[in-house]
Amino acid sequence: MVIGCDSHSKIKTFNMKKTTQLYEGKAKKVFLTDDSNLVIQEFKDDATAFNNKKKGTIAEKGIVNNAVSCKLFAMLEENGIRTHLVEKLSDREMLCRRLDIIKVEVVVRNIAAGSLVKRYGFAEGTVLERPIVEFYLKDDDLDDPLMNEFHAVALGVATLEELAVLKQRAEAINALLRKFFAERKLKLVDFKLEFGRHNNEILLGDEISPDTCRFWDLETNEKMDKDRFRFDLGSVEDAYSEVQRRVLDLD
Ligand code: TMP
Ligand code: ASP
Repeated sequence: MVIGCDSHSKIKTFNMKKTTQLYEGKAKKVFLTDDSNLVIQEFKDDATAFNNKKKGTIAEKGIVNNAVSCKLFAMLEENGIRTHLVEKLSDREMLCRRLDIIKVEVVVRNIAAGSLVKRYGFAEGTVLERPIVEFYLKDDDLDDPLMNEFHAVALGVATLEELAVLKQRAEAINALLRKFFAERKLKLVDFKLEFGRHNNEILLGDEISPDTCRFWDLETNEKMDKDRFRFDLGSVEDAYSEVQRRVLDLD
């Protein structure tokens, strides 16, 4: 049981409980609550990569990703970015505003890695003079294809005005996150964001965690994120808990 009140809209979260399960994704479950405006995200230890082709578990990942996401969303809110976070309810549960999710995954890249290297032939580690913002269609059946504004509008997943907001918001979030991680001796290589509509506003949703970002150690360039799982690099749990330690400023 948690007694709380979020600072923006004075939501009373006294004794907020999960009711019906709304959705189960690869890494999280989402539950309805007694308040139709609020949902609870529950973070799982299940890990998938390459759109479910590789499956496994990362012990305590759900706890790390919830803690890291709550801390980062709170930091972003303090800096004027509206998010779905209401409050952290427990180790694995985040109370959130309910969103109408926009079916666009927004990826921001500061350093070439992953699919950017594969698709365009950049050398891994190339520092991009200007961050690249990409849109992907959020559709597992189609393997989340890369798309531009024309595709998104034609598909009816977002309006041009909304896409402009997503791009501008993603760049602002990137500036805040880069500074936050640099102070914690991590390079923010790239990351994925999801947004949703809530009462005529666009809010940042989903999570920001080692599952959805690439982090390299500032000094050694050691990979500290889900790439350790994707490519069987070992020490996956250690990397996740080290990111948590740095993000939460523990010892
Ligand atoms: P990519 O290089 O594989 O396109 O990934 C770019 C970033 O987006 C990386 O930080 C991982 C994140 N990401 C997700 O969070 N979910 C996904 O389904 C994919 C493909 C990438
Ligand atoms: N999240 C995606 C999956 O579950 C892809 C990835 O993160 O590599 O397959």
